[in-house]
Amino acid sequence: MSTLTIDNQKLAYEVTGSGKPVLLVHGFPLNREMWRDQIDALANSHMVIAPDLRGFGESDPPVGDVSMKVYANDLAALLDHLSIDQPVAIVGFSMGGYVTFEFWRRHKERVASMMLIDTRADPDSSEKAVSRRDAADRVEKEGINFLIDGMMPNLVADQTFKGQPDVVKALRTMMAKSSTAGVIGALHAMANRPDSRDTLADIDVPTAVIVGTEDAISPPADMEQIAQSLKTATFTVIADAGHMTTMENSAALTEAMKKHLSA
Ligand code: MLT
Repeated sequence: MSTLTIDNQKLAYEVTGSGKPVLLVHGFPLNREMWRDQIDALANSHMVIAPDLRGFGESDPPVGDVSMKVYANDLAALLDHLSIDQPVAIVGFSMGGYVTFEFWRRHKERVASMMLIDTRADPDSSEKAVSRRDAADRVEKEGINFLIDGMMPNLVADQTFKGQPDVVKALRTMMAKSSTAGVIGALHAMANRPDSRDTLADIDVPTAVIVGTEDAISPPADMEQIAQSLKTATFTVIADAGHMTTMENSAALTEAMKKHLSA
């Protein structure tokens, strides 16, 4: 693990392998460990860069507000820190996808291609935004266990619950590592995030849109619409997986990523 310091806050990241750069942006309330199988597999042919966003994994809890803009600018600062000026393949999973859209709006010259995995382009409905802000207030008082319990059924497919207890356990452990301030900050950041649907028509790099067949948070039909709104997109559905494709069916997901990277 390496770190860089931005705004007096330590941001943790790892760089593995060499070759064309691939930047992996994790979801909520997760950290770079969600990409462990992909990091190991892609590092044979690429330089894989996997940060922990502010407040997650081994990064410091955020001081002050965070937003998609803050997260996206942190990624650009990390690339600067690594002296990577060639465009990267950016891979955004769920909340990481929301960050990827913002990265595109702010730093599109740094993007060679994109993978959008189990994510959404539309903003929160007003009800959803209210429920996120309520959850943030509750996390402040109670910590994050109630949030983890509430999210688990939506994160993985039924068969994962039954057949892959190790994945369920790893997911819980990963989520429990998130700092209270990181979770509160991200809940507000997601509730306040902009609508990215208009951005889709502007994206002119090859993009792979990938989703688990049983994803309850970003269902395949919604993700297919994202693919249809893009100029150059492929659309892949991963079998035997809910939202957490990177862990539930990591072999199929990694294959889809390799296919995109070698196209
Ligand atoms: C994620 O996996 O990053 C979250 O489920 C995204 C969200 O809650 O919108």
